[in-house]
Amino acid sequence: MGIETTRADRKVKEFRELPTDTNTSPNSRSKRSRRRQKKMLPVQKLFEICKEVFANGGTGIVPCSEDIERLKAVLDEMKPGDVGLAPEMPYFRTQLARRTPKIRYLHLYESDKFSMGIFCLPPSGVLPLHNHPGMTVFSKLLFGTMHIKSYDWVADAPDAPSNASADVNLSEITAPAARLAKVKVDSDITAPCNTSILYPADGGNMHCFTAVTACAVLDVLGPPYSDPDGRHCTYYLEFPFTNFAVDGVSVPEEDREGYAWLQEREKPEDLTVDGAPYKGPKIVEK
Ligand SMILES: [Fe+2]
Repeated sequence: MGIETTRADRKVKEFRELPTDTNTSPNSRSKRSRRRQKKMLPVQKLFEICKEVFANGGTGIVPCSEDIERLKAVLDEMKPGDVGLAPEMPYFRTQLARRTPKIRYLHLYESDKFSMGIFCLPPSGVLPLHNHPGMTVFSKLLFGTMHIKSYDWVADAPDAPSNASADVNLSEITAPAARLAKVKVDSDITAPCNTSILYPADGGNMHCFTAVTACAVLDVLGPPYSDPDGRHCTYYLEFPFTNFAVDGVSVPEEDREGYAWLQEREKPEDLTVDGAPYKGPKIVEK
């Protein structure tokens, strides 16, 4: 989801010169790169693999399955301590004074190819339903229990007319039509667990995270959100399938809970995602 980052956030970067490399054969470079990665701290290893995996990335470009597995394997093993986090930290405390808990985003890295960051959610914190246009996204729950609900668009389904229902407020002229989506995931996950992956057109490209307990999610986005490149974060309202009847769309009664109509909305007013400094092991950008 969208988060504004500041130049101050990016001060976590350090720059170091690479040693002179006289052997330029791709095979030897790749072997050396893998040997180096074995000795690295997990977050540095993650960064190095992301650089390789997303080197030729762009909107709608999905890395090859071998690269996806390599990146997933590193994320699967990552633990809160690898990024300097612990459940006792203030970010994760229950916020009694707030109706909707404030969420923190720790910015690790961003380039035009990929971004890495951590969402810190107190109990009941919600990242509302949003999309990831043209992106491949890896989400690793570092600790806690989180409910994930995700959807993919139903291809070729007609839009629901914007004035099709009297019992929901879709009748304003300016309201965008709702589109039919199919539920991909609707379940709790508890760390330690494997990495969730979504793709431009499947895997649950639109998702909502709800913190059942305090939790932290490490997100890798390739490519990252970018308004100039048409990768804008859009938020959605969801309506039960039965709210609309549209010609050409029929779903058996017993399957209807697996579908919903999604309608674009403004960024929810009660959503607060504040940037916070990342204090884990430094990522060295070579
Ligand atoms: Fe997301």
